[in-house]
Amino acid sequence: MSYRFPDRPVFYRRLGREFPCAVSARGAWITDADGRDYLDASSGAMVTSIGHGVAEIADAVASQMREVAYVNGLMFTNKAVEALADELAELLPEPLHYAYFLCSGSEAIEAAVKLARQYWCESGRTTKWKVVSRVPSYHGNTLAALALSGREHYRALYGPLLTPFPRIPAPDPYRHPGCAACTGEALEEAILSEGPDTVAAFLFEPIVGSSGGAVVPDAGYVRRVAEICRRHDVLVIADEVLCGMGRTGRWFAFEHFGVTPDILVLGKGLTGGYAPLSALVSRREIVERLAHGTGYFNHAQTYSHTPVICAAGVATLRFMKRLHLVDRARDLEPLLFRALAPLAGRPGVGDIRGKGLLAGVEFVADRDTKAPFPRIDRVAERVAERAFARGLIVWPNVGHVDGERGDLVLVAPPLVVGEDDLAEIGARLAASIDEVLGETRVAGSRPSGTGRL
Ligand SMILES: Cc1ncc(COP(=O)(O)O)c(C=O)c1O
Repeated sequence: MSYRFPDRPVFYRRLGREFPCAVSARGAWITDADGRDYLDASSGAMVTSIGHGVAEIADAVASQMREVAYVNGLMFTNKAVEALADELAELLPEPLHYAYFLCSGSEAIEAAVKLARQYWCESGRTTKWKVVSRVPSYHGNTLAALALSGREHYRALYGPLLTPFPRIPAPDPYRHPGCAACTGEALEEAILSEGPDTVAAFLFEPIVGSSGGAVVPDAGYVRRVAEICRRHDVLVIADEVLCGMGRTGRWFAFEHFGVTPDILVLGKGLTGGYAPLSALVSRREIVERLAHGTGYFNHAQTYSHTPVICAAGVATLRFMKRLHLVDRARDLEPLLFRALAPLAGRPGVGDIRGKGLLAGVEFVADRDTKAPFPRIDRVAERVAERAFARGLIVWPNVGHVDGERGDLVLVAPPLVVGEDDLAEIGARLAASIDEVLGETRVAGSRPSGTGRL
């Protein structure tokens, strides 16, 4: 393939591609420089929860920039960070007390892991360092976050740089209902085989986002893993970078299961993309252990607790509270799934699942055996590409079945999405899927197109 160099001196993740230039965006819609409209059914990377073009966020950021754009948290506190902590505290159960603000989900995951490690060191239990995570999973792309992620195609190149943390299978209620991963037993086996004295924390997404495709575990799973962790003195870190902040119809996904983690990690919807903000929120006693010990959290980044970024968070939370957007996500859930329901009849569609305004559509080559498509068919990518050509943005993911195979798309529109837009998402996605499956070998149907791509 001949490489087409970009017109401008910038490069993106996908090299040699031309992208439309986004010039304006409102609500769930984005317009490009040629005047084409796109229905943003993935909120970008599951980020723009409050929708595009909310002027009051821009105003809050601009006014904070004029007042105090930046001070460092080693020397000053600031009104924006304090207001943000208060807004969050209003929503969280009391054990989750102290917030620490950073810029990206990956950074907050790394900070959460360091906090867990430091907590055990300051408790005199210095052998506890391992973090058990799950496969598939995604916790970020910096090296520790990647080491904890179960996404083989992201990891393969960097094997020598990744700490070999223990990993267990994530529940897959569609393929393996009731297995040891679904019941939580796999976690206990891993902790016992590693030795509880070496395990600091368990990291998981209460409702899985992109890596598994909106997987909601069985009701008892989250309670069971939390109970196993308590019994073995293992901290529970809930990664709600994607599933938190109202996306699933509750402010936080852990609320669906009646379990409070020891450390909560937030990102994405915390500012809906208006500024790069993430947070970890810790149980009171974890931070207080450090406060009474070294008196120091051994983690520093230039842009932690930054006023301008926190101001975007405050304005976003106030906007969400005033417009009751989390209730809206809960109330729109039936409409979203009604719009997607006709897809279930297609021979290549294996499962449609999710919670709130987070849905996953999984594609399979055979609905009876649930066999995934061969990777060469690129089903998820092709569905997303055809949807994009129709002015619909969905988020493709591959590899969740065995590290290589597994095709799905995520649908996660802004929480302000209109009811008509949900129907439009269903219709455009159905047409895109029909086009792709019509060209692909699927058990139970005859290819009607030009054959495999
Ligand atoms: C569950 C989860 N955790 C962590 C991250 C990493 O966040 P960021 O891309 O902001 O570093 C992501 C990003 O998609 C995510 O989905």
